[in-house]
Amino acid sequence: MKSRRADFPLLAASPSLHYLDSAATTQKPAVVLDAMRSYYEHDNANPHRGAYALSVRATDRYQDARERIARFLGVRDPSCLLFTRGTTEALNLIATAWGHANVRAGDEIVVTGLEHHANFVPWQQLALGMGAALRICRLTADGRLDLDHLASLITARTRVVAFNHVSNALGTINPVREIARLAHAVGALAVCDGAQSAPHFPVRFDELGVDFYAFSGHKMCGPMGIGGLVGRRDILEAMPPYQFGGDMIEFVHDDRSTWNVLPHKLEAGTPNVAGAVGLAAAVEYLEDIGLDAIASHERALLRLATERLSAIDGIRIFGPPVEQRSGVLSFTYGDIHPHDLASILDSEGVCVRAGHHCAQPLMRRLEVPATARASFYVYNDESDVDALVSALATARSVFALAER
Ligand SMILES: Cc1ncc(COP(=O)(O)O)c(C=O)c1O
Repeated sequence: MKSRRADFPLLAASPSLHYLDSAATTQKPAVVLDAMRSYYEHDNANPHRGAYALSVRATDRYQDARERIARFLGVRDPSCLLFTRGTTEALNLIATAWGHANVRAGDEIVVTGLEHHANFVPWQQLALGMGAALRICRLTADGRLDLDHLASLITARTRVVAFNHVSNALGTINPVREIARLAHAVGALAVCDGAQSAPHFPVRFDELGVDFYAFSGHKMCGPMGIGGLVGRRDILEAMPPYQFGGDMIEFVHDDRSTWNVLPHKLEAGTPNVAGAVGLAAAVEYLEDIGLDAIASHERALLRLATERLSAIDGIRIFGPPVEQRSGVLSFTYGDIHPHDLASILDSEGVCVRAGHHCAQPLMRRLEVPATARASFYVYNDESDVDALVSALATARSVFALAER
């Protein structure tokens, strides 16, 4: 596959920029920007509320977007796809609405040492609030889940097993179906953080075997502020609302209220219609390229970058072998602090992430305060890898000079 850089106005306008931070957020193609602009120019009104044609159009655009994104993720029933602000809100929604209704003192919640804080802290806080115990799955030396340990943690007391499909910090791809099977064997929920999988390879919710799957639009060429939670209908229906207000009610009496049907029960307030429309355009864009093609493009760049960086004295790469990783390359360089390293790379137009990647429990397990992370997407090509390697050489000479 050829790089799609020309589709992205920001990148097309900055030929010397090497954007290697797509695991944090992706750039936006013109088709997404155009779709959002067109929505506001032609169809904008508050959906669900007006008895006039324009509002009906806005409602239709919102519903069409839901159906389009549901198709992309292999969700048969679009009403089971709730729009949220992103993965963080989706995971907080389950931990709060389902968790407070279902987790009790003495119960156990299982998470992993690989999680982003968005799939760790909500469960930690739920456990603390309800008097439940948080159990944390160990990792292997190369940053995979220790599945024997995971199996030993999942017991009759387990109510939830929460884990990511792909680690944002290391790129580790986890065996979702197997983990879901372990959870279901004891009647626990399987909650999958899909923030780093939906953008990068084909995902079919109906085949993953999980109960919930969360994702963020801005990591898959869509706008910020939109994402979603896909869930099993029976669980969503039994769950109490997450937030209260407009659209989510059926009747409001003075002393009580009843709730709207799915998905509205779990989407209080005026929704982000332009965001949904933009995300629908994004998934169409990704499907036009082909998710398999995207996955192999990223894998080729990851392989190349891993080979080139492995040949540099002082580089330490974290995570499993390339075949078990998505397009994420996490590394340190000698004793250069990753923040300093990122600043020097930036001076050569190379954007990488440096820090704990919102995964402090993982950094403690790796026994490093931080790493630098390069991540690849549809607009990257070999020239970005060349630029990274050349900027690392600059970093070496700058720090060698500073040492003298
Ligand atoms: C694995 C993972 N989970 C959750 C999140 C949180 O996503 P958001 O900030 O879009 O809610 C991220 C974002 O970096 C992530 O990579």
